[in-house]
Amino acid sequence: MSAELPIGVFDSGVGGLTVVKEIQDLLPHESIIYLGDTARVPYGNKSPETIQEYAIQITRFLVAKKVKAVVVACNTATAYSLVRLRELFFLPILGVIEPGVGAALEANCGGTIGIIGTVGTIQSHAYQNALLQAKPELKIQALATPLLVPLVEEDWLEHPATDLILKEYLKVMIQEQVDTLVLGCTHYPLLKRRLQEIVQGRMKLVDSAENMAIALQRTLKSHQLLNPCHEMGTTQIYVTDFSPRFQALAERFLKRSIGHLERITLG
Ligand code: DGL
Repeated sequence: MSAELPIGVFDSGVGGLTVVKEIQDLLPHESIIYLGDTARVPYGNKSPETIQEYAIQITRFLVAKKVKAVVVACNTATAYSLVRLRELFFLPILGVIEPGVGAALEANCGGTIGIIGTVGTIQSHAYQNALLQAKPELKIQALATPLLVPLVEEDWLEHPATDLILKEYLKVMIQEQVDTLVLGCTHYPLLKRRLQEIVQGRMKLVDSAENMAIALQRTLKSHQLLNPCHEMGTTQIYVTDFSPRFQALAERFLKRSIGHLERITLG
C-alpha cells in the first residue's frame, strides 16, 4: 500500500462533504475520492441489511479505485456496516460515530446530551450505547429527525420551511435543557448556522467531522500512510445520480471548484 494513494470517503449524498472539508483542512496533501450515493439517498429510513449492502458496494468501488483507507462519512452506514466492512476489506476503515462520541464527551459539562440523527442511527442506539459505556451516569435525549436530510440535499439551508422544522424538532431538546447537542448525521453541520440561531447559546453543537479528521491522521500515521507529497491533494467526486443541486452546494461548502464530477453505477 503506497502513501501516495487517495483516501476514499462516502456518504448517501452531500453530507459526507462536511467530513471531507475537515480532512482537506487538516491533511491538505491528501487526495480524496468521494462517493455520494445520490441515487439512493436518504439511507436513514432504510433497513440495516440494505444499508450494509450499499456500504459494501461502495467500499468495493473505492477499493477498486485503489484507495489506501476508507472513511464512512455517514452515521447511518457507520452504525450498520462498519463492523462488516472491516471483516470484508483489508485496509483501514474509519466510521464517524466514535469521533462524534469523543466530541460530545469533550464538550459536555455534566448536563443532558441530546442526539439528533436519522431514524436508522437513533434506532441503532450506537451513540447512546457508546456514550453510556464511556459514562454510565449520563442523561441522554435522542431524537430521530428524518426530514432534515432531504432539506439539505435540496439546498434549503436557509429556507423558512427548514427553520420551522428545526424549531419543532429542537423543542424537546430545549425543554429537556440539553446542554450538548450531537449532530449525529453528517448532513446536519450544513444547517449549523440556523441551528445556532435557534438554540441561542443554550447548548453546544458538536459533530464528528473535526475529530474524524484527527482520527484519520492518527490512523494514517500509525500505518505509515501519510502522504509525503508537498503539492495540494485533489478531490474527485463520484455520484450515483446527477442531482441538480449537488455541484453548487458542494463547491459552495468546500470553497473550491470540483475538478472531477462523474456519475457511476454501483451494484
Ligand atoms: N449523512 C448520513 C448520515 O450521517 C445521512 C443519512 C441519510 O441519507 O439519511 O447518517
